[in-house]
Amino acid sequence: MDKLVIEGGARLDGAVGICGAKNSVLPVMAAALLAEQPLRIPNAPQLHDVGTMAVLLRELGASVERYADGGVEICAEGPLSDKAPWETVRKMRASICVLGPLLARQGRADVSLPGGCVFGVRPIDVHLKGFEALGAKVRVEHGFIVAEAPKGGLRGAEVFLGTAFGSSVTGTANVLMAAVLAQGRTVIHYAACEPEVEDLCRCLVAMGAKIDGIGSPMLTIDGVAKLGGATHAVIPDRIEAGTYLSAGAMTGGRVRVTGMRPVHLSAYLDRMREAGVPFECGADWVETQPYAGTAPAGAGAFPPRPRPTDVTTQTYPGFPTDLQAQWMAQMCFADGVSVINEVIYPDRYMHVAELARLGAQVRRQGTTAIVQGKPSLSGAKVMASDLRASAALVLAGLAAQGKTEVYRVYHSDRGYEKIEQRLIGLGAKITRTKE
Ligand code: EPU
Repeated sequence: MDKLVIEGGARLDGAVGICGAKNSVLPVMAAALLAEQPLRIPNAPQLHDVGTMAVLLRELGASVERYADGGVEICAEGPLSDKAPWETVRKMRASICVLGPLLARQGRADVSLPGGCVFGVRPIDVHLKGFEALGAKVRVEHGFIVAEAPKGGLRGAEVFLGTAFGSSVTGTANVLMAAVLAQGRTVIHYAACEPEVEDLCRCLVAMGAKIDGIGSPMLTIDGVAKLGGATHAVIPDRIEAGTYLSAGAMTGGRVRVTGMRPVHLSAYLDRMREAGVPFECGADWVETQPYAGTAPAGAGAFPPRPRPTDVTTQTYPGFPTDLQAQWMAQMCFADGVSVINEVIYPDRYMHVAELARLGAQVRRQGTTAIVQGKPSLSGAKVMASDLRASAALVLAGLAAQGKTEVYRVYHSDRGYEKIEQRLIGLGAKITRTKE
């Protein structure tokens, strides 16, 4: 296993381009199962999760080509298997996205339950409720979800996909992918409005699906008999963009994040403004600015502290849960107390204990974390527990004094392409070595 060794205190400076979004590319890859012709994704990021999805699609009988330029081409000409094994599904929750396409195309799907997750129970009841509304019989047997379409195939229906915590991203994706080949009209109420769901809709439309209301909480889908091949570039990763902007802000540097869509990060940028972080914004870039009066880049000077700024995680367009850990790392340096409220995943606080190893003062109470900012943190050995926690620890290490070692960096490799190389490009002192 690898670890990242970070010498903190270097002020970052430079530009970093954003990759295709992880949470777009995974359901889009699964959508390839809906057609016999190839689906090409020219900008698939080079991530472990993309590799895991490729393995799963091959196990199901599709061919997957990965090109040196990052492109991926998937062809599910058939025959396909309808069984997604535990050995692969357990590695990545997004594997559940093959359920809808398999059910629609094959009339049957047998997909291992994805199981628990380090930041709490992540149920899939609304996925199943959606399939049942389309006429499927669904049961859980020996750890597998077995879903069977009725004779004559799935039938369009009115489906309400809200959960106790709001809409569901992969729940919407899954039911949508089943509905595009169902007979008649499906209306999904309380659809997730995340840009990644909108992106999946655009890919499905390029493949021949008929979907109205894209980007809204009500999707109307008129089923078609077949989908065809397409080329679809996925949207830039808004969470990767936010993470690098936090790196710029926390080191007081000038970091220009390019190839991104600032509109997808409105809530995060609003919080940055509220925190007093200077930045400029263009059509497809955002650049953090050095605070007025700080020493030149490379001088090792720490930036003035941000204002303490509260966040509550929400579904899109609210503040994303996938940036909560990174925001906490940022607020560990704030000039006062910030309150973070995690309502999407109430237990997504694995990073709190590790940030404390760097000297951070964070107290958790139920779904709330109270962060007492400090002028500085001191480097230490820390353990990444999940993808976004690992990003938070890297950020804290960049801004802490002295050496931080982040263990179990494979978590970060699931969702950040070449994170250390990109940070080195910005002037960070960071190396990857074996644990
Ligand atoms: N929920 C239910 N029942 C369901 C489905 C969800 O109660 O059937 C609840 C969940 O427990 C949670 C809330 O609804 O409280 C939202 O969960 P959602 O289904 O939207 O999450 P997801 O689709 O499993 C995706 C992302 C996550 C991201 C969440 C929230 C992908 C592959 N994953 O997960 O990304 O945190 O939406 O935005 O798109 C990450 O990238 O680090 C990551 C975890």
